Amino acid sequence: MVEWWQRGVIYQVYPRSFADSNGDGIGDLPGIVDRLDYLEWLGVDAIWLSPIFRSPMADFGYDVADYRDIAPIFGTLADLDRLVDAAHGRGIRVILDFVPNHTSDQHPWFTASRSSRDDPHRHWYLWADPRPDGSPPNGWTSMFGGSAWTWDEPTAQFYYHGFLPQQPDLDWRNPAVQAAMLDVLRFWLDRGIDGFRIDVLWLLLKDETWRQDPANQWAGRADLPGIQELVARMRATTDAYDGRILIGEIYLPVERLVAYYGTPDRPGVHLPYNFGLIHVPWDAGRIRDAIAGYEAALPGHAWPNWVLGNHDQSRVATRVGAAQARVAAMLLLTLRGTPTVYQGDEIGMVDVPVPPARRADPAEPSRDPERSPMRWSPVPNGGFTTGEPWLPMAASDPGRSVEEQRDDPGSMLTLHRRLLALRRAEPALAIGGFELLPSPDGVVAYRRTSASRSLDVALNLRARPVQVALPGPPGRRLLASTVPGRADEPIEGRLRVEADEGVVTGPA
Ligand code: NOJ
Repeated sequence: MVEWWQRGVIYQVYPRSFADSNGDGIGDLPGIVDRLDYLEWLGVDAIWLSPIFRSPMADFGYDVADYRDIAPIFGTLADLDRLVDAAHGRGIRVILDFVPNHTSDQHPWFTASRSSRDDPHRHWYLWADPRPDGSPPNGWTSMFGGSAWTWDEPTAQFYYHGFLPQQPDLDWRNPAVQAAMLDVLRFWLDRGIDGFRIDVLWLLLKDETWRQDPANQWAGRADLPGIQELVARMRATTDAYDGRILIGEIYLPVERLVAYYGTPDRPGVHLPYNFGLIHVPWDAGRIRDAIAGYEAALPGHAWPNWVLGNHDQSRVATRVGAAQARVAAMLLLTLRGTPTVYQGDEIGMVDVPVPPARRADPAEPSRDPERSPMRWSPVPNGGFTTGEPWLPMAASDPGRSVEEQRDDPGSMLTLHRRLLALRRAEPALAIGGFELLPSPDGVVAYRRTSASRSLDVALNLRARPVQVALPGPPGRRLLASTVPGRADEPIEGRLRVEADEGVVTGPA
């Protein structure tokens, strides 16, 4: 049986920057409800919301102080229930962000843990004695810079944090932690949530002896043996409910990434996020290799997925430029596997520079540029807020808003909507087979096949036209192109693919 999340397209909402309903400059849940018509019109099947839980926002919600309540700046539990109902009413699923690796230092578990060495919550976190010279247990650094250990004077030990000191890591070897966190999953599943994106899943376990590999900062605290057992428990918890999904945030080489699918007997997450297209240099040969390598590494029971951007990565339109961003969108939406579209990429948003005085992100390099608020209309602050946006927005950005692009046949938004509709209409694209086709230098070409139809995709990654022989049967037509105005042409023999053009061809 084909599941909704295999056919479907996921859209990542970064709630802080999506739509502000109350003028405080920060996006919120009622703002998302207001924009559900847009998401339905666009044609996405699910939204993943970056964290909306109670949090001091040291890392913008990835520091959770209460896993069962909503941060007041985003709204209330009732607002979330309304959002879920309204989304479901439009056939859109809602996926939450589960942050199991660490909590906020304001979480009651951590305040208890640091209160005394004898507290029942002490061993929910990772505490360790200093080395004889008083220095931290080892030289591990935090993902955000500086030591990963913070000294706690009252109890005279260090605690471990892979990210900010305000984000102490939980001890996932402790069964009480596992039980409490699985309960969090059940709490939301009971409330009708359709699944979770799981934050830094591959980092959950750390070497118990704090052994450090001087050659590799993350050895001993990434992808450790035993982690699949934990993933399987999360999956078993989720599988007690119908039609729910787990997506793992996992930055690992493909050979290791695919282990997170688990095995048919002991499944892991449904989709270990595949960030191959974010890291690959924008070159046809490298992209072909990345696709082939990923397809070859997938176990038989695994369903693929693709990602072009998220709230931690420079925008795709900035990385590859406006012309190739259209080609990239066609790639994302025609490859085999579930695509995730990052909010704003569908209108070609670019990284927005943020002056030092307005900097918000604690991480280095700053992720503020890709988090700049969504542009809904060509008015000051893009129709995102009536107040002062929490991050600066370009004063004006002609053409780059939903309102301006909605009815423009040549816009990036129309291209996205068109490709989403084509994917929905063509089983070959949504769930069909995949085969790379031979292609000239600078071109990525592949065939997608269903029982009755085969579609060919040819993407020109260069800024000059190229002739491509697409060996389909006669009577084929252009079904879609990234070049405005070009579609529905019959194809005779070789096809001229314009500079920076991507095409989908198939039977008329
Ligand atoms: C990954 C999240 O996507 C990122 O935004 C966050 O800072 C870290 N995990 C820590 O939770």
